[in-house]
This record gives sequence, structure tokens and C-alpha cells, in this order.
Amino acid sequence: MQEDHEGPWLFTPGPINTARRTKEAMLRDMGSRDADFIAMTGRVCERLLAVSGAGEDYVCVPVQGSGTFAVEAAFGTLVPKSGKVLVLVNGVYGRRIARILAVAGRQFTVLETAETAAPAGADVARALSADPAITHVALVHCETTSGILNPAEEIAAAVAKSGRRLIVDAMSTFGILPLPAKSVAYDALIASSNKCLEGVPGMGFAIVKRDVLAAASGHAHSLALDLFDQWQFLERTAQWRFTPPTHVMAALDAALEAYMAEGGSAARLARYKRNCEVLVSGMRRLGFRTLIPDRQQAPVIVTFESPADPRFRFETFYGHLRRRGFVIYPGKLTTAETFRVGCIGAIGTEQIEGLLAAVREVIAEMALTLAPAV
Ligand SMILES: Cc1ncc(COP(=O)(O)O)c(C=O)c1O
Repeated sequence: MQEDHEGPWLFTPGPINTARRTKEAMLRDMGSRDADFIAMTGRVCERLLAVSGAGEDYVCVPVQGSGTFAVEAAFGTLVPKSGKVLVLVNGVYGRRIARILAVAGRQFTVLETAETAAPAGADVARALSADPAITHVALVHCETTSGILNPAEEIAAAVAKSGRRLIVDAMSTFGILPLPAKSVAYDALIASSNKCLEGVPGMGFAIVKRDVLAAASGHAHSLALDLFDQWQFLERTAQWRFTPPTHVMAALDAALEAYMAEGGSAARLARYKRNCEVLVSGMRRLGFRTLIPDRQQAPVIVTFESPADPRFRFETFYGHLRRRGFVIYPGKLTTAETFRVGCIGAIGTEQIEGLLAAVREVIAEMALTLAPAV
């Protein structure tokens, strides 16, 4: 993958490594009101909708900014001021949704599980029947904090059965683990350009049920993050409401082209799964332990327990790997000393093997004692 790659290999949850052609797509300046860019916006939104598999009842609304901007726009717009959200929390990004709701002045309640445990449909059903004021449920599909995959189908069934609405943060699964709108009846899915689609950072988007969005006029607490207004402006003019991230869109356009050429979600998932398997088995051979059980591990990012050896310091480990051209990620868990390694982006098993060889060298350099599994 990428013979002429420059710079370090990123084993992170985004920004991730992008293909050369994706980067090259940004070498052209485009006028935001020009016909070429208007056509590009239409094409990218159509393709994102197609990737979601959501069908004709849904629309795609792009939002300037990072993924959080799109999450904030979606919750602020789709949850009315009289609404109340049950937020399923097992990591940072669930907690961030609760914070967004607090800032937006929406009522919410939290159902929290450990960072290493997924919420269960039965617990969601119980929480919903105990509180009739709840109108919406917020779910993070893959909680990137740990890499755990939350059971969307089971939770969506509990939400649908109780007649509430579901909003899913699919930031780190969009493009590899589709959520069919038929079995996971959601009002909105939110994701961004710079994860499994392998674009560059700078925009998010929401796949939203058209009738739900059409009824959301005046809900938003923010001008810039009003998804309804953004959609209406796009519908009327085919243009973005405010300055669009033209280069980011050009990169995403090229990244989507490459995504389809690779074989769409099945092929990309297969590559990431291979990356994940080679990473996990190689790290286990070196003596590292994973935090999340294999059956709940999304092939997105893997959390490893920091070795017990007192000579292990993440900053030193990171620095030695960085000097060899590999960037890993610190842990984000509140309960355990960990670090993370991403499997997504324009990387393959060759890069994973390269990282494993570097880790082996760094273990020797730091004189770490690990207990390799036999
Ligand atoms: C599940 C999830 N939600 C939200 C976000 C926030 O996205 P951003 O950092 O682009 O604002 C991330 C980022 O990694 C994520 O993984």
C-alpha cells in the first residue's frame, strides 16, 4: 500500500492515512458557488446516502467542522426543546453527547455501563418504560474510547418497541459496518469524512429521516449548527449555507471513488478485519493483552493494557515508535492504564507487520519484560 508514502504511518482513529490520490484531489482550488463544486456536493451527498443504505426516506446533510460539530448539529436540531434523551454511555463519546445536550439545554438521562461492557437491549427497555418523558435514545455504535462495538440491532429493537426515536453516532463505523434502516430504525446516523471513508478531516454529515428533519424547523439552539437550515439551504440552492470546506470535499469525493473501486463496505471491512487480526495476534505474541473481548472488538481501534513492568512509560514507548515512523494513540479510559492502536485508514497488513517489528525493537530498547502467550 502506497510505495511513495511520506511521513509517519498513523495507527490512530482519525485523522488517518489517506491515499495519494485523495491528497492530490486537494491540489485544485474551487469556487464554492461554481458549477463544479455544486455538482461535487450533490455527488458526495448521494454517495454517502448510498453507503448508508438508508434509502429514499433519508437525506444526507453535510456539516462543516469535525465529527463533533455534526453530532451537536444533529442532537440540537432533531431533539425538540420539550424532548428528553436517554444517552447510553460506555466511553468518552457517549459522555460527550450528554455534554452537548446539557449545553443545548435539552433534558437527558444517562444509562452508563463500564467502559469494557456494552449496554443491553433489556436494560434500555427497562429504562424507557421507567421514564415516559424520554423521547429519544442516543447510541454510539463503536465507542472509539475502547474500540467496543455496541449492539445496535438489539438496542434499536428496544427503542422501536417502546415507540421512541433513535439517533446513532456512527462516526467510527460508517462505511464498514452498515446499519440497515429496516432493522435499526434510526432518525439519524452521524459520521465524518476522516475515518473509515479515508477522507481528510474537516466535515461531518448526518443521514437523517426526511420527515423528521422537515418537522425540526426552529429546534436548533445554534445558528451555524442548525441541520434543518443547512438542509433547506442546500435543497433550495444546491449550495452550502456558509463557506464550505472545498478541499475536504474534493478529498472525500476521491476517497469515495476509491472506496467503491475497492469493493465498498464488504471489501473495506475485510481489509480492516485482517489488519485487526494481524495486529492483535502479533501484539499477543509479544506479550500484550487486549482489553475488549474479541467478540465485541470492532476492527477500528484496539485497546491494549499497558504492561505491568515499571519501566513502561507510554510517552517513551510512543517516542521510540514515532522515531521509527509509527504513530500510535494514548489510552482514553478512565479506569485502566492503556494505549490504543488503530486499524483503519489507507494501511494494510504490511504496515501492521512493520509496526509489530518496531514494537519488538522498542521492547528490547526499553528492556521491558512482558510475558508472551505461548
Ligand atoms: C464515536 C465518535 N464520536 C465522535 C467523535 C468526535 O469526532 P471529532 O473528534 O472529529 O470531533 C469521534 C472521534 O474519534 C468518535 O470516534
